[in-house]
Amino acid sequence: MAVEIRIPPVLQIGGGSFSTVAALLLRLGCTRPFIVTDPFLMKSHLAARLATQIRDAGMSCEIFHETVADPTTTVVEAGVGSFKHGGHDSLVSLGGGSPIDTAKAIRMLAANGGEVRDYKVPRPIPAGGPAHIAIPTTAGTGSEVTRFTVITDAETGEKMLLAGDALLPSAAVVDYELTLTMPARLTADTGTDSLTHAIEAFVSRRANPFSDGLALSAMKTIWRELPTTVREPGNLRAREAMMLAATQAGIAFSNSSVALVHGMSRPLGAHFHIPHGLSNAMLLPAVTAFSVEAALGRYAECARTMGVAQAYDTDPSAVDQLIRSLYSRNAELQVPSPKQFGVAEERYIELIPTMAVQALASGSPQNNPRIPTATEIEKIYRQLF
Ligand SMILES: [Fe+2]
Repeated sequence: MAVEIRIPPVLQIGGGSFSTVAALLLRLGCTRPFIVTDPFLMKSHLAARLATQIRDAGMSCEIFHETVADPTTTVVEAGVGSFKHGGHDSLVSLGGGSPIDTAKAIRMLAANGGEVRDYKVPRPIPAGGPAHIAIPTTAGTGSEVTRFTVITDAETGEKMLLAGDALLPSAAVVDYELTLTMPARLTADTGTDSLTHAIEAFVSRRANPFSDGLALSAMKTIWRELPTTVREPGNLRAREAMMLAATQAGIAFSNSSVALVHGMSRPLGAHFHIPHGLSNAMLLPAVTAFSVEAALGRYAECARTMGVAQAYDTDPSAVDQLIRSLYSRNAELQVPSPKQFGVAEERYIELIPTMAVQALASGSPQNNPRIPTATEIEKIYRQLF
């Protein structure tokens, strides 16, 4: 099988790489960058530090800090308005997945016009648009290296998946020092999102030898280091390892795919505002248990790589240990059920058929080793509650 691999042309990786952003912009020929961030990073002065670095290099910039946790079409449209009004020639996104995903959509509309929903999967995105430097502050969504963005339709509430090479950032700046102040819950949730990316990229029907190597390396590191970063937020070694692994997992799934966990996770986020990494965590053990029979060898390899099974374990025994370990890791990281999260039971039950339809429509479940029917998806949602 021949595959085409796409990654950003420039990856600046390592502690202190944040200070290279202005030089990168100049290399890309930019003079008027538009910074996309969120209110929290505005308050923490990180956005101001970025703006100062850019202005000190002789460029002018504007900060757009209205991004929200689940980026909506409304926010994207406001961003496009400010981008055009300010005559900007580039974007710098700073934050978790939300500011980066928002910047991707702003860039796409600035170059192609129309509305976000015009480009929903499987519709193509014709033009790339202005330069975009992505700076993640979590480890992480991997959005800085992926060809995807997820935007919620403000009218229908649907979480729309958009995919295409045009969404790939021009450069990613991956500096683990930006993650040192992440609170424990965010560290746990974004880290589990990364673990899910690595596992899903590896078991996906679109897996390939290139994505496999990165996925295995990432899942090994994330499984080992995530509890340390949650317990010891200032552990530089663990933070650095997690940051690199999250980016590797991002490259892996961008060049393979995610699968059923992500397909089912998006509707949970859209309807109940469960943070993305947390809804992935809720789903990962149950979806793994559902899927293993169709890719026993692959899941067993995950188990051995993560160190939850030994080389001499048979495949069925290794996957049993994988499923058990995923459940116990959730307990350790205090992952709630939807009910414990505060979701109203009646509303949840009522929405299950809709969520199943939306999960299937995203295309991700079709990449799962065991392709589910709507009824099977509904059953997993019910079991989860
Ligand atoms: Fe994700």
